Amino acid sequence: MIEWSPASWQRKSARQQATYPSEEKLSEVLNQLSVLPPLVTSWEIESLKVQLAAAARGEAFLLQGGDCAENFSDCTSPIIANKLKILLQMSLMLIHGLNKRVIRVGRIAGQYAKPRSAESETRGGSTLPSYRGDLVNGPAFTPADRIPDPIRLLRGYGRAAMTLNFIRALSESGFADLHHPENWDLDFVQHSPQASEYRRVVSDLAASLHFMETLGAGSSELNRVQFFTSHEGLHLPYEQALTRRVPNRASHYNLSTHLPWIGFRTAAIEGAHVEYFRGIANPVGVKVGAGMSAGQVQQLLERLNPEDEPGKLALIHRFGVNQIAEGLPPLIEAVQKSGRSVLWVCDPMHGNTENTASGYKTRRYDKILSELKQAFDIHSQQGSILGGVHFELTGDDVTECIGGARGLNETDLERAYLTQVDPRLNYEQAMEMAMAIVHHSAE
Ligand code: PEP
Ligand code: CO
Repeated sequence: MIEWSPASWQRKSARQQATYPSEEKLSEVLNQLSVLPPLVTSWEIESLKVQLAAAARGEAFLLQGGDCAENFSDCTSPIIANKLKILLQMSLMLIHGLNKRVIRVGRIAGQYAKPRSAESETRGGSTLPSYRGDLVNGPAFTPADRIPDPIRLLRGYGRAAMTLNFIRALSESGFADLHHPENWDLDFVQHSPQASEYRRVVSDLAASLHFMETLGAGSSELNRVQFFTSHEGLHLPYEQALTRRVPNRASHYNLSTHLPWIGFRTAAIEGAHVEYFRGIANPVGVKVGAGMSAGQVQQLLERLNPEDEPGKLALIHRFGVNQIAEGLPPLIEAVQKSGRSVLWVCDPMHGNTENTASGYKTRRYDKILSELKQAFDIHSQQGSILGGVHFELTGDDVTECIGGARGLNETDLERAYLTQVDPRLNYEQAMEMAMAIVHHSAE
């Protein structure tokens, strides 16, 4: 094996990378990025790793969620705050229902680069590069938008920093105070079919808090919440520029996010992404699913977590409702045979994408939930632990996925279909999903 460095991935073949018109301009930008301050710290990263180890043992639960692709134009107060609110509300439901600490991780503050199935797109006789996320190019079908521009890497770093700055301020101030969950209320609480259940949970939790504080057991922890960030580590030059040595620690950290993950399309064992990821000290995720062999998964474990460090590796499975029953058990057996520890996470979104007759990319609530329930059942039958869930969701009232208590149907999609890439659960559907997890685990 070649010696690892933040740049050693360059000697391997990298899928899903942008082709820039000028290498020189790209290097200039990367040089600038490489001296800008980090977005997260190694202490936070190490603390997350300890918490993920607890989730792998079944003592905590990971809730990971956010946009498929963040847009630069969504870097606004209401959109960020609503995303934080929905994740906080979902985490309250899960804490109450599962009786476990919940680790909140957003797909946020850096989820700007996307893998695509085609390199280019042709419309009306002209061909342009595919949209690869705001970090690389723009979605409009014009050369100005679609030709990759390295200046976007600096903009992405800037948007990530602004987003994180706001999240940090909110999580450490009155907004996140567990005594005042009304701060996190979305319209959901007034209008949703599930509102009364949510209210009951909140008042239950308030009573428990009051009880603890009467006993003198209150802690300053209750006035703020911990919130971590994650994104797909797809754009390797960007990730490399944010990979740093920190004083008094031996390893390199990716300091652009707490929990980077390897996408399904870039998980080749000899590929550049696995090479980059094997050397960083962050906990890392890797998407696994249909078509991946047990042998490949075993190799991934050895390559990405050679020391079998607890909390280091999350396997995020995304099979699809019709494939999970057949596909997941052999992977669980492979991990069990290896004797290594992993955190199992279910992404019930990416195997359940379909196109409607009118051309919308959508997902059905029922299929998402069914995959999730099967995941819980399969893990418990196989003697493994499902320690977390991974959703594409938003805190806003979008209409991108079909179904849920309000019965959104195909014709509703056009009302507020805002995603540039994959369809997300809206705030009601996301909240329902959290409730459904709790109900299923109580069955
Ligand atoms: C994603 O998480 O948005 C994604 C592209 O997923 P996957 O790599 O599992 O296809
Ligand atoms: Co997606």
